[in-house]
Amino acid sequence: MTTVEGSLLTEDDMEIMRILHNAFRRDAARLVTVAERFGTVDAETHDAVLLGWHGFSSGLHHHHTIEDDHIWPHLRDKLADRPDDLAVLDDMESEHSLIDPALAAIEAAFDDPETGRDEVAERIDGLLTLLAGHLAHEEKDAFPLMKGWLTTREWAVINRTAMKELSFSEIAELGPYILDSAPPPDVRRVLAEFPAPLRLVHRFWWNPRYQRARRWE
Ligand SMILES: [Fe+2]
Repeated sequence: MTTVEGSLLTEDDMEIMRILHNAFRRDAARLVTVAERFGTVDAETHDAVLLGWHGFSSGLHHHHTIEDDHIWPHLRDKLADRPDDLAVLDDMESEHSLIDPALAAIEAAFDDPETGRDEVAERIDGLLTLLAGHLAHEEKDAFPLMKGWLTTREWAVINRTAMKELSFSEIAELGPYILDSAPPPDVRRVLAEFPAPLRLVHRFWWNPRYQRARRWE
């Protein structure tokens, strides 16, 4: 459908969201290893875990903030007379509201040298259960609402607004974070979204710097 607001999002537009979700799944798998080894690693490895963790937790928190502040409200206006669809958005918000405290609980555990391995493992397990359920639920029920109701023009405005809420250093980390260990087609798809000058900045500055830092392991 084409309107004055542009055409509706396509499956290809949703690819970026899918790739971002997969970046969170990648780090969820890394957190399983952290849960197994917590308390048995040397100080440098612990620092690497914290660096990886902060990239993941801030990326996830920011992603949820964009959805809660910009994407769901935009959809709510359009879906005002569709109670079943509104219920999906209610679910998305309530799932987010459970994930944020689970992130904070792990952060607190990492900060407290007295926390035992079992406690850390339990908190990580709690987060990963919530996260896996939420990502799958969003992809199944909320992605079709985005694709079915948002236009490319609205999507561009949402993305621009979201980028403005990031600091320069957060923007510099975001591309390398999403593309860390991503398959080549996903890398090409995400970089295609970057303006040409930023692709160069990513290639020669942001990504090498991101890769140099020791994360997770
Ligand atoms: Fe999402």
